[in-house]
Amino acid sequence: MRFVFLGPPGAGKGTLAGEISGRCGVVHISTGGILRAAIQKQTALGKKVQKVVEVGGLVDDQTVTELVRERVSHEDVVSGFILDGFPRTVTQARCLEDIVPIDYAVSIVVPDDVLVARLTGRRVCSACGSSYHVLFAQPKREGVCDRCRGVLVVREDDKMSAILQRLTAYRAQAEPIVHFYSEREKLVSLNGAPPISDVVLEFQERFAQSR
Ligand code: AP5
Repeated sequence: MRFVFLGPPGAGKGTLAGEISGRCGVVHISTGGILRAAIQKQTALGKKVQKVVEVGGLVDDQTVTELVRERVSHEDVVSGFILDGFPRTVTQARCLEDIVPIDYAVSIVVPDDVLVARLTGRRVCSACGSSYHVLFAQPKREGVCDRCRGVLVVREDDKMSAILQRLTAYRAQAEPIVHFYSEREKLVSLNGAPPISDVVLEFQERFAQSR
């Protein structure tokens, strides 16, 4: 199946996509993850987008769309994919329709106070990008990645000013996108507030039924 995951920063798009892709054999494609990797490597793309990503703004539609067009042309997506963080504008959603059809747009809904608590407590591995939380998803050893032993750091855009900017940017874009997929009868709403194991279970039950 081909999914897009919609939802505000901290909704758990990346965490859920990581769990589901592992269990269902579909590819997890995170535009934010691709952009952060490019910034870390200081590629031409990374240098171009660094400033806007770090302050919590949106990268321009053309740059992100080309990145997705290229990624979904790879052979590994034939078994299905989860697009995490794309589309974020109606322009991107229209472009995606021309690139590849999707089956469902899953809108993950979480109250604002929970989002802020998740984002301010998130820690990411500086080497492999794995995500943790100081309360909800602790590593075995404080400050150290379980997977690769890399150092855990605060994401640049998880500083409070950038969090508020990202939430504002999301609110401005969310409604038209939700409407876009609702009109096409592809929209599914998922409660992202419970613990991640419950969210995964709910997702699996809903989509096992629709297969
Ligand atoms: P992106 O990486 O997509 O960031 P985001 O949308 O702001 O989403 P987050 O990664 O912050 O949150 P998430 O929903 O994935 O939550 P997570 O699972 O990590 O994009 C970053 C930037 O790149 C953008 O701001 C923009 O500049 C640019 N960009 C990317 N795509 C773009 C596009 N299409 N167009 C233009 N620009 C684009 O969870 C958060 C924390 O909560 C974690 O610590 C996790 O452990 C914890 N957690 C998650 N779920 C639960 C749960 N159920 N219970 C308890 N804790 C939980």
